Amino acid sequence: MTATQLIKPLSVETKEGLLFVGGCSVDALIKEHGSPLYVIDIQSLNQNCQNYLEPLQQNLDNYQIIYASKANLSIAMAKQLINQGLGFDVVSGGELNTVLRAGANPNSIYFHGNNKSKEELILAIKSGVRIVIDNDYEFELISQLSQDLKTKVSFLLRLKPEIEAHTHEFIKTGQLDSKFGLQKNDASHYILKSLNNPFLNFLGLHAHIGSQIFDHKPFEALVSRMLEEVLHIQKETKQPIKELNLGGGLGICYTKDDDPKPIKTMVNQLSLLYKKEAKRYGLDPIPKLILEPGRSISATAGLTLYKIGGLKHIEEIRDYAFIDGGMADNPRPILYQSEYTIELANKLDQPHNTPYTIAGKYCESGDILAKDILLPKVDIGDILVVYTTGAYNYSMASNYNRNPRPAMIAVENKISKTWIRRETLEDLLQYDIE
Ligand code: LLP
Repeated sequence: MTATQLIKPLSVETKEGLLFVGGCSVDALIKEHGSPLYVIDIQSLNQNCQNYLEPLQQNLDNYQIIYASKANLSIAMAKQLINQGLGFDVVSGGELNTVLRAGANPNSIYFHGNNKSKEELILAIKSGVRIVIDNDYEFELISQLSQDLKTKVSFLLRLKPEIEAHTHEFIKTGQLDSKFGLQKNDASHYILKSLNNPFLNFLGLHAHIGSQIFDHKPFEALVSRMLEEVLHIQKETKQPIKELNLGGGLGICYTKDDDPKPIKTMVNQLSLLYKKEAKRYGLDPIPKLILEPGRSISATAGLTLYKIGGLKHIEEIRDYAFIDGGMADNPRPILYQSEYTIELANKLDQPHNTPYTIAGKYCESGDILAKDILLPKVDIGDILVVYTTGAYNYSMASNYNRNPRPAMIAVENKISKTWIRRETLEDLLQYDIE
């Protein structure tokens, strides 16, 4: 099967067997910035934003794309996305602080999470960002804090849409038995209750069914079901629902076996359906449609470069090639058995026909990035490239075995810029009390 979306960044080129991205050779990037190295291709990042914005602009008057910053966040990343016109979904004080520092408009920031702390909520309320309320305890806490702080809080309610999406067990969220969200039937109760508090400003509803979903049907069901809820709740409460946030989760291609529809096609179809269904339900005005993609914005813009260290041949069993990173900079294979497209970036002109197992440097047998993949004959010092690592790699990275996290750089028009500097051994000691 062939992938239906691009796996590699738009700007990749090969010159004499060597990979270039953003006009820079990977060899030169490693010499300048070290290895392992996270690389973001600005051209792809911008195009991924446009894949959402263009169809929405064509089909709807009122919409907003907010980036699920858990996918990959830094001040520089946030600034780049603000320039593209995106807002942000944040789920912690740390993410909130980062996007505020980058200059995001508080009206374009939505604060999610099932157990936001009091301190986080105070920061959110004082900063004037929108809060997506997850549960009863949080509703009461926010209600109290808004009065204590005498500050207006604009909020949405997160509902469980009760839609099954076929994806990995750990990343589905829309079913009834989920830790996220309120039951649909409880929404009116909270909206009516909020009317007793002049500091609470109800804006709308939110739902998210999961992540890395290929099938278009659960998304279509989500559009219809949530618009039906809007109609029902508006009737019941006589309160307008101004915003409807349908979450993220559109799947992307990691390997040629993945076959989700192109993002632009999906967004076009879903926004047309949204308009059609809203009209069918007689909703006027149509609530502002908010989508909050993470992976489909940043994943394909990113790649990771590693240097090959030791090689180990086990007679009649397998050949291992060791890399200078592994499960701490990319925990997805060990967590979700995720597969990636991997090449030898300095031997792209040679046939990839020898099986190798790529093992990381961490003190754990499960630290295998890929099993039995086909590469040219590997030599020590070769450069391995792993594509589609722009989402949920750096953001889930750890310092396991006290290893410093790699740098992240962005490339465009032959220029590379550091977005996050490489950690040092000294950085790893900064919280230790001697
Ligand atoms: N909105 C909400 C409320 C979410 O929980 C998520 C992802 C998103 C939006 C963005 O979903 P996306 O468009 O990126 O699929 N660590 C996992 C993914 C966890 C997703 C968590 N929530 C992975 O590496 O696959």
